Amino acid sequence: MPPAEGDGSLVDYYRRRAAHYEAIYGRPERQEDLAALRGIFSGAFEDAAVLEVAAGTGYWTAVIAQSARSVLATDLAEEPLGIAQAKSYPRGNVAFQLADAYSLPESLGRFGAAFAGFWWSHVPRQRIDEFLASLHARLDPGARVVMLDNVYVEGSSTPMAGADREGNTYQMRRLHDGSRVRVLKNFTTEEELRERLSPHAARFSYRALRYYWVVEYRLK
Ligand SMILES: C[S@@+](CC[C@H](N)C(=O)[O-])C[C@H]1O[C@@H](n2cnc3c(N)ncnc32)[C@H](O)[C@@H]1O
Repeated sequence: MPPAEGDGSLVDYYRRRAAHYEAIYGRPERQEDLAALRGIFSGAFEDAAVLEVAAGTGYWTAVIAQSARSVLATDLAEEPLGIAQAKSYPRGNVAFQLADAYSLPESLGRFGAAFAGFWWSHVPRQRIDEFLASLHARLDPGARVVMLDNVYVEGSSTPMAGADREGNTYQMRRLHDGSRVRVLKNFTTEEELRERLSPHAARFSYRALRYYWVVEYRLK
């Protein structure tokens, strides 16, 4: 059984990976899906004040900022967020803040929309409600919430390397320096997302591409 995965180890992993993180968006077989997603998200937040959690290097931040009124991009790790901050955002509507997705502080303000890319899969099953409570406390009623994550694709996704007693699954990931890190990575289903989100969601939609899924709902 793998040791319990705390935030510390996940954050440390993404700190060390930050400079090479966006190589994941260069994989040839995923370009068609990624172009479709950029198309969807570039107009998805028309005029909204968006809270982005676990924004990382800002790959999606730049896309969302094309239509949003403003984006507050948050992450718990300085290194990826520093890369996000160094990018250019032509509309000048993006701000950055270090923040823990499980305890988003009141000082961030309140938002009409939220986005989380590739974050759901890193949330231990036993912490999903904690994350949702933290996120929803920062949002207005009726806020639009959009989440994006991976579909497991045999032969393309990193193979699974064990599970724990809560049903969380793990992958062994190799960093650029050759070291290997065990990372919690849960591949979910439409049914599970519906079940976990329906208590909070006024409208729920799920769509799956070949490599990615997108969920959207309105906060009750
Ligand atoms: C898979 S990356 C996603 C980055 C970005 N959203 C994207 O789609 O490219 C996961 C991110 O979660 C961040 N992270 C890890 N634990 C966190 C926490 N407790 N609160 C906020 N961010 C966290 C990591 O630093 C990392 O940038």
